[in-house]
Amino acid sequence: MKRRSVFSLAALTGVSAVLGACSSEQQSPGGASAFTNRLRIPPLAKPETGKDGVKTFALALEAGGRSEFLPGKSTDTWGINGAYLGPTVRAARGDKVRMKVTNRLPETSTLHWHGMRLPARMDGGPHQMIEPGTTWTPEWTIDQAGMTSWFHPHLHEKTAMHVYRGLAGLFLIDDPSDPRLPDRYGVDDVPLIIQDKTFSSDGQFSTGRVDEGTYGLLGDTILVNGTYDPFLDVTTELVRFRLLNASNARVYRVGFADNRQFHVVGNDAGPLEKPVAVDRVKISPGERYEIVVRFAAGETVVMDSKGEDEKSANDIEEEDFRLLKIVATAKPAASPALPATLGGTATVAPAAGVRVRTFSLSGSEINDKDMDMNRIDEVVPAGALEIWEIDNTTFAHNFHIHEVAFRVLDVDGVAPAAYQAGPKDTVFVPKKAKVRLAVQFGGYTDPLSPYMFHCHILRHEDKGMMGQFVIVTPGTEEQVPRVLAAMAGHHHG
Ligand code: C2O
Ligand code: CU
Ligand code: CU
Repeated sequence: MKRRSVFSLAALTGVSAVLGACSSEQQSPGGASAFTNRLRIPPLAKPETGKDGVKTFALALEAGGRSEFLPGKSTDTWGINGAYLGPTVRAARGDKVRMKVTNRLPETSTLHWHGMRLPARMDGGPHQMIEPGTTWTPEWTIDQAGMTSWFHPHLHEKTAMHVYRGLAGLFLIDDPSDPRLPDRYGVDDVPLIIQDKTFSSDGQFSTGRVDEGTYGLLGDTILVNGTYDPFLDVTTELVRFRLLNASNARVYRVGFADNRQFHVVGNDAGPLEKPVAVDRVKISPGERYEIVVRFAAGETVVMDSKGEDEKSANDIEEEDFRLLKIVATAKPAASPALPATLGGTATVAPAAGVRVRTFSLSGSEINDKDMDMNRIDEVVPAGALEIWEIDNTTFAHNFHIHEVAFRVLDVDGVAPAAYQAGPKDTVFVPKKAKVRLAVQFGGYTDPLSPYMFHCHILRHEDKGMMGQFVIVTPGTEEQVPRVLAAMAGHHHG
């Protein structure tokens, strides 16, 4: 047996018998799951639209939630407007949005809009701290491709624990000019937030390893939308799933137990040029893929994750998991045909002579430096198209850049698979690999408020595998202060 599967190890060593009473409920998702819990669909957040036309969404970060994941056991959780995870925010391109983020936690946090193009002071990164009992109210106009983005805390050195306890939610952007895909939320447009957890015997989230070891906690139990051992009834021929890997470190290769083909239609930051048929998508923390899957009348199929071969892989990408049982109705409703083109464009290699920046990853440092909140690492002229070269000298990482959309040009000189060639903001960086990105920066300038770039393995981010860049008016790069220390006490946003 090549793969280290939790289930097969348990079977071979008799571990499941040792676990005794709880083994039938707490079987590993790699094992013989019963799929007894209806998949939870995060509720849609309802905005208030004022006279000014701004859509205002209220989001409260809350501790003290109690969730029942494992049958009959209560887990202490954190959530946004609820006990665990958050509501789904949905808005359209061109909307003006205002987010009222209230911190009801016993500690400081932030809320970052991962994948959003907006002014840096609205970004919710480590500089936009929200003290307990206060409300932060960023606003911006949505001006980017239709996509699946998300939000989560980004407090310096504390992100892993805040996300692990349950603070995360989806932010869907609709572009009315995109070709029509299944879009009835919770019916044929279904979000799947994939997270790994480890439960202690009393049903609590184990947190001991979140801030330890090479990758932090690697859970043995999968939750999808905060549902343990879930099933989903589908009622249409085609279903669009929006996959988000909101795990702290694990990498999944999502597909189906029968190895059926399906189509990838979108990457992190927007649609592909045309649908790409695949039987697996690899998704690392922070990444999103939109897929469209066809179901036959009355069938049942399991969505699963297959690990990479352990010889080539790191331990974050080895395990097999079963994710979700899908049951199709006997008389599925007809779906609109999958469009031949999706509204995205093909990757165009940047012209020779564009600026190249190099980022060397080692241990948990970038260019031999730990994150420093007061240091500006890179100064980028507004609207620039640049090549960012990520040179990984050690074990697996990934790389996320705020504010931008990028294209993966190549990994060790090889172009990415067609399904990964769309607009992205986060990319897996295999061990010892060199990844080249063509990065398109936006136009909001602010020499004093940085955006972040970092590894989205949260243990690494918290250890300091993060840097800061500002976007400035072209021609002013040399005048930008590279140290923000003088700004200490100054309130960013
Ligand atoms: Cu999803 Cu800087 O993060
Ligand atoms: Cu981000
Ligand atoms: Cu990393």
